[in-house]
Amino acid sequence: MHRATLCRTVLFELAVMVELRVYQDATDRAQVIALWEEVFGYSADHNAPSLVIDQKLRAGDALFFVCCESDRVVGTIMSGYDGHRGWLYSLAVHPLARKQGYGERLVRHAESELAARGCLKVNLQILESNKAVATFYERLGYCVEPRVSMGRRLPGSGDDTPGAESHPQRMSNLPPSI
Ligand SMILES: CC(C)(COP(=O)(O)OP(=O)(O)OC[C@H]1O[C@@H](n2cnc3c(N)ncnc32)[C@H](O)[C@@H]1OP(=O)(O)O)[C@@H](O)C(=O)NCCC(=O)NCCS
Repeated sequence: MHRATLCRTVLFELAVMVELRVYQDATDRAQVIALWEEVFGYSADHNAPSLVIDQKLRAGDALFFVCCESDRVVGTIMSGYDGHRGWLYSLAVHPLARKQGYGERLVRHAESELAARGCLKVNLQILESNKAVATFYERLGYCVEPRVSMGRRLPGSGDDTPGAESHPQRMSNLPPSI
């Protein structure tokens, strides 16, 4: 590489401060919504980004993290701990920020916060069609476990139509939470 090009690249990398921290509503909400809309699309009322964020903030568990380049949110991960298992949700890295280790750092950060709360095992769900993210998680030590995932929307969730979640037109690429 030409010396001048090398200098510019190094300076640029030094100028970008990367930070992993707890989500802050005042500065992060609009950026996280834009990121999720780009990465996940939108599938169903119960996955509307603003609703997902409101509900997580109501939990008050400080287990929602963002990865920022300077002040710009480029990645998210949500986690939860119910006293038995830890869960990971809504892992997303902006397409232009991928393959720089941010996804792995987000997962490791969430894992260590869960471990600090006494959590012994972490689970996550991914769409069967999402082969790429399965490969990513396998690379991080996760494996497919022989389980059947079951779920039911509770009355009042805003979308209780039986079978609504499996209707093709309602499925996005990758919902924030399955
Ligand atoms: C999956 C995702 C978070 C990975 O983010 P990232 O910042 O690019 O990942 P990293 O740079 O930390 O990669 C970590 C490792 O996984 C590998 N990896 C990353 N993306 C991969 C992919 N799509 N396919 C295969 N391997 C992948 C990397 O090569 C790296 O391995 P290495 O250290 O051996 O080189 C990102 O691609 C994404 O946001 N995808 C869409 C959202 C999504 O599917 N979320 C999950 C919904 S539950």
